[in-house]
Amino acid sequence: MKFPPLRTALSHHKHRPQPSLAAQLRPAQLRPAEPRPAEPRPDEVRPDEVRADEVRADAVWAAAQSFLDLFARENPDTRDTPAADERLREVRAEIEATGSYRHTTQELTFGARVAWRNSARCIGRLYWNSMTVRDLRHLHTADEIAEHCVEHLRIATNGGRIRPLISVFAPDRPGRRTTRLLNEQLVRYADDPRSRERTALAQELGWKGGDKDFDVLPLLTQDAPDLAPRYHELPAEAVLEIPLTHPHHPQFAALGLRWYAVPAISDMALEIGGVTYPTAPFNGWYLGTEIGARNLADTDRYDLLPTVAELFQLDTGDERSLWKDRALVELNLAVLHSYQQAGVTMADHHTESARFLTHIERERRHGRPVPTDWSWIVPPISGSATPVFHRYYDPPATEPGPAFVHCPRARDRY
Ligand code: ARG
Repeated sequence: MKFPPLRTALSHHKHRPQPSLAAQLRPAQLRPAEPRPAEPRPDEVRPDEVRADEVRADAVWAAAQSFLDLFARENPDTRDTPAADERLREVRAEIEATGSYRHTTQELTFGARVAWRNSARCIGRLYWNSMTVRDLRHLHTADEIAEHCVEHLRIATNGGRIRPLISVFAPDRPGRRTTRLLNEQLVRYADDPRSRERTALAQELGWKGGDKDFDVLPLLTQDAPDLAPRYHELPAEAVLEIPLTHPHHPQFAALGLRWYAVPAISDMALEIGGVTYPTAPFNGWYLGTEIGARNLADTDRYDLLPTVAELFQLDTGDERSLWKDRALVELNLAVLHSYQQAGVTMADHHTESARFLTHIERERRHGRPVPTDWSWIVPPISGSATPVFHRYYDPPATEPGPAFVHCPRARDRY
């Protein structure tokens, strides 16, 4: 189907650059949280801004066409029917009038699942098509977002049988950026070195926690780029945590380590067909090595290998005693053991590697490549003992399909 060049009726906003996280973390320079400022009046808009709007609308339309085409191809019941044609016309008219368009719930669900399928760094993609999508696009205030993130954790946790889940809140519209969630994940610990800036921000905003080990950070929201963030405590019952024990070393428990059940990424925007959803937290379940070989072991995270080595009386004076390697194995064993004991879903790197190759095979049968980043897929311990180590992969995709992108890229959009 052919469409003439796009002419939009847009002329309504000024470009508002997104401050960096560092800038957002200096609340003293921000106004206190209060209602969103008014949009600029039409007479404030300059001709070069009109032109910029048109260029943006063209890009939205190009991305929309390619997404709707993918949707029609993979959802054959809608293919080549008047409905698909009609849908293109409708979307085009909406972009002309407003600079953007609204996905149907079916499109949103498909787009979010394909964004997972396209995630080159994720080894867990075999189940991409079973992610539950919560369509929460009608919600955009900080309080609504905080409340429904808590609900997200409850649904995803599911008493330990973790459910892959995404909650999609209101998208950005041309000239109007929606509320931001500033957390890296819905659950993070204040004493994790990775959370330093966010912990400092929460405390500056008046949060009283963060003085104990493994204190769960509150949610941090920001209603508009120039408004001070706010914090919202997570109710303890919404955050399932697992104390870490070791199957053969009773003293391990005395280290007082624990981790949470649901890894829910909240600092990536979901992009589908030219529409950006900046607040769309999503989760799968943990792979043991993420915790045992990275979060608790990396020297710039909890840096626990020396502690574990001491417990197991390993010779830390000699690199060639392989004390780090042995401590890594003990720590990973403890993580897998503890989640299993607690009845919380967790994958091990051997099983998950095999599943990933099944995924590649399944996608091949559908004629689809599997964009993959080797350096993220190969587990951080025992790489060569897993089948994913011993081969090459399709390169990460260059053409823009549905994707999860780190927020700065998405936030530059409007
Ligand atoms: N690696 C991150 C963490 O340790 C979580 C990333 C997402 N992981 C997942 N299994 N879905 O917290």
